[in-house]
Amino acid sequence: METVVSGIRPTGNLHLGNYFGAVKSFLKMQYEYNCFFFIADWHSLTTHPHPDNIRKSVKTILAEYLACGLDPEKTTIYIQSDVREVPELYLYLNMNAYLGELERVTSFKDKVRTQPNNVNAGLLTYPSLMAADIIIHKAVKVPVGKDQEQNMEMARKFARRFNQIYGVEYFPEPASFHLSEKAVKVPGLDGSGKMGKSEGNAIYLIDDEKTIKKKVMKAVTDSGPTEPNSEKPEAVANLFAMMEIVSEPSTYEYFNEKYNTCEIRYGDMKKQLAVDINAFCAPIREKILDIMANDAYLEKVAAQGAEKASVSAAKTLREVREIIGFRP
Ligand code: TRP
Repeated sequence: METVVSGIRPTGNLHLGNYFGAVKSFLKMQYEYNCFFFIADWHSLTTHPHPDNIRKSVKTILAEYLACGLDPEKTTIYIQSDVREVPELYLYLNMNAYLGELERVTSFKDKVRTQPNNVNAGLLTYPSLMAADIIIHKAVKVPVGKDQEQNMEMARKFARRFNQIYGVEYFPEPASFHLSEKAVKVPGLDGSGKMGKSEGNAIYLIDDEKTIKKKVMKAVTDSGPTEPNSEKPEAVANLFAMMEIVSEPSTYEYFNEKYNTCEIRYGDMKKQLAVDINAFCAPIREKILDIMANDAYLEKVAAQGAEKASVSAAKTLREVREIIGFRP
């Protein structure tokens, strides 16, 4: 079975865009690949978060992954900082990583511009830590968004370079597995574009019924079509796209028909959409709350994941140390 690695930075709650964009693919992948899903808490240290925030955000993402249906019995779910072999491999990769190429990474250059007072070495070497995350399990596929492509190119380069320097064919080159081409795009409801945390238009899996309703009722529309069967402007198309994702086909058809005959009342449509989004989110939300309240269970899952990931990582490190010329 091919090995897949996927990392997520612990930066807040999962929203519907995350669910339909990545998490839903993970649910399938966990049965088809040897998957390692980890929470990248070392990466998050580049911004010096408070220990309470680290604890809280790691716990949140773990609980949300589990509530969505990632199955710790079928797959490996772990916290990056539990696997001490990762920083050892990061050290080796850094010895073969050049300042010039690290400085040329676009996301690093952006950080230099946006946070000139915190251009730390962790930011500079972010690509080598990410490469270590991936090749420590000798992964061949990594599900990532387009924004990670440059980091993926670096990971391939570092894997290749290690092999070249030591004259081995040890690390496979990890391929990017672009979810965005296959996954459903969840629109934002604020007029244009997709749903995202940074866009400020996200409906979170943890949002309660009232919050969902408030967000949906605020969705941007227009004054309604005046010609039958007219093309939908983007904001309205987004409302329909969301309905297509969460509602019954007959509900979608009903409102589409109303739109085409110029009888649409967006208020009614939004009310229905809020009900359907809530119906979709409610069981996941309840599971998140249950799991968040069960520290013993979370601890058990984290320990089990750490154990499985460490076995895989330790094997790689034994072999890498031997290749480099250290005692295994
Ligand atoms: N850089 C990724 C992001 O920002 C997170 C990440 C860290 C990652 N290590 C990884 C993703 C390894 C895939 C594989 O989204």
